[in-house]
Amino acid sequence: CMTRNYTFNIVQHNVTRLCHTKSIVSINGRFPGPRIVAREGDQLLVKVVNHVSNNITIHWHGIRQIRSGWADGPAYVTQCPIQTEQTYTYNFTITGQRGTLFWHAHISWMRATLYGPIIILPKRNESYPFRKPYKEVPIIFGEWWNADPEAVINQALQTGGGPNVSDAYTINGFPGPLYNCSSKDTFRLKVKPGKTYMLRLINAAMNDELFFSIANHTVIIVEADAVYIKPFQTDVVMITPGQTTNVLLKTKPYYPNATFLMAARPYFTGQGTFDNSTVAGILEYEHPLNHTFNTKKMVFKPTLPPLNATTLVANFTRKFRSLNNPNFTASVPQTVDKQFYFTLGLGSSPCPKNTTCQGPNGTKFAASVNNVSFALPTTALLQAYISKKSNGVYTTDFPTNPPSPFNYTGTPPNNTLVSNATRLVALPFNTSVELVLQDTSILGAENHPLHLHGFNFFVVGQGFGNYNPTQDPANFNLVDPVERNTFGVPAGGWVAIRFLADNPGVWFMHCHFDVHTSWGLRMAWIVMDGPLPSQKLPPPPSDLPEC
Ligand code: C2O
Repeated sequence: CMTRNYTFNIVQHNVTRLCHTKSIVSINGRFPGPRIVAREGDQLLVKVVNHVSNNITIHWHGIRQIRSGWADGPAYVTQCPIQTEQTYTYNFTITGQRGTLFWHAHISWMRATLYGPIIILPKRNESYPFRKPYKEVPIIFGEWWNADPEAVINQALQTGGGPNVSDAYTINGFPGPLYNCSSKDTFRLKVKPGKTYMLRLINAAMNDELFFSIANHTVIIVEADAVYIKPFQTDVVMITPGQTTNVLLKTKPYYPNATFLMAARPYFTGQGTFDNSTVAGILEYEHPLNHTFNTKKMVFKPTLPPLNATTLVANFTRKFRSLNNPNFTASVPQTVDKQFYFTLGLGSSPCPKNTTCQGPNGTKFAASVNNVSFALPTTALLQAYISKKSNGVYTTDFPTNPPSPFNYTGTPPNNTLVSNATRLVALPFNTSVELVLQDTSILGAENHPLHLHGFNFFVVGQGFGNYNPTQDPANFNLVDPVERNTFGVPAGGWVAIRFLADNPGVWFMHCHFDVHTSWGLRMAWIVMDGPLPSQKLPPPPSDLPEC
């Protein structure tokens, strides 16, 4: 194992997309940002120096941060922001993980331009549980706004309405040939015939789940969120924001006289404004020198599912199963110490006096968990917790259940019950948690790709309609459930997850649609220290930013 040093200088940088040049916040003048490459067991030291006027934090999405919670990154949860001309060095060791993850800014909507891949190779003497691919290629999906994304979300929050949608989806920063004024801004993947490529798919988009497909090619999914799964073949991949998926692409054994588009566009279950445009990249075969064809090169486009292909998505997500091999994967907790039932809802809260709000019926959009719309404090929760200064910052009475029982066929919960508060759950070390996440589908049935910091969780059950606590647990998968850090709670449905609270710290959990997070669909867990020295969170680093 070794220590790997990176320096992230946060600087303004001019980028042109869709014939529109603007100055974006970037890492080292690159968009998307640099790749982090490491091996399992390596220590990473990433020195972040902020040269822009925005406050910044960086999150290492999916990295478990075992006993290194100070390096997790969500603003006002584990740290105060890195202010202009300040520096903070994120220091963590990658323990028990290998595969694809990503890093992104974790404050306001700064992650719209600040993101990049994390590639964790297996330890030197270890191999993949499949044949080593000929080449590995990160494919990172994003969203591009011609406007400043910070202005977009700030305007929405001030007026209580919904933010404008982005102008394009991107693959490795490029919108591709299907958008106006964009054909030269296309990601191209040149391949050799008869080889296996591993594509490391990352959805870093702000607000959209995406379907991805490559014309005339199928792929084999081998890994999800840096955990190996039982391989399966598919034409179409669905990937939610916050998820990563490694797929194997076997190229054709000959030189096709064609180029193939690889394309992505949203999976969307709600109503209202959305962007259903398509990003495309190009897969092309490297022809040997002097090779010519007599006929015109064909262009093939993939067929992507319809926007609201919910049955397809449900069938797809159920195919993910843990490899269930003790050499590579952990096993699901068989017993449960504490159960929680959380309703996830879009709703609204009253419009402040002397303001005109653009939300439903003149209210302000608010999103909530158990009708609590989580308010971020102005200091960091982890610092407040460790220094025993929770007073006036947060309480540990986050409701275990919604205030009134939820029922699809009955009266939906009352939106006026949405309260703004900073309420947390405190868990003793090593608590085995079972959490049922129920979508309430108020104000538009939208999926919620829920992301948990600091842990992977096992998806033991899922379904549509109401979760039934007396019947559904009998069908839980306690043998080979998929282990992930982000999973879509289906619109009008539920998901049951389990995780072992074996990592002391304060851990954020939120919808990875940034618009829903901004509206309050977020909360945090405190995991207390265990009795042994190896079960305690070390004290904060000396360069930890102050608020
Ligand atoms: Cu990828 Cu809390 O985020």
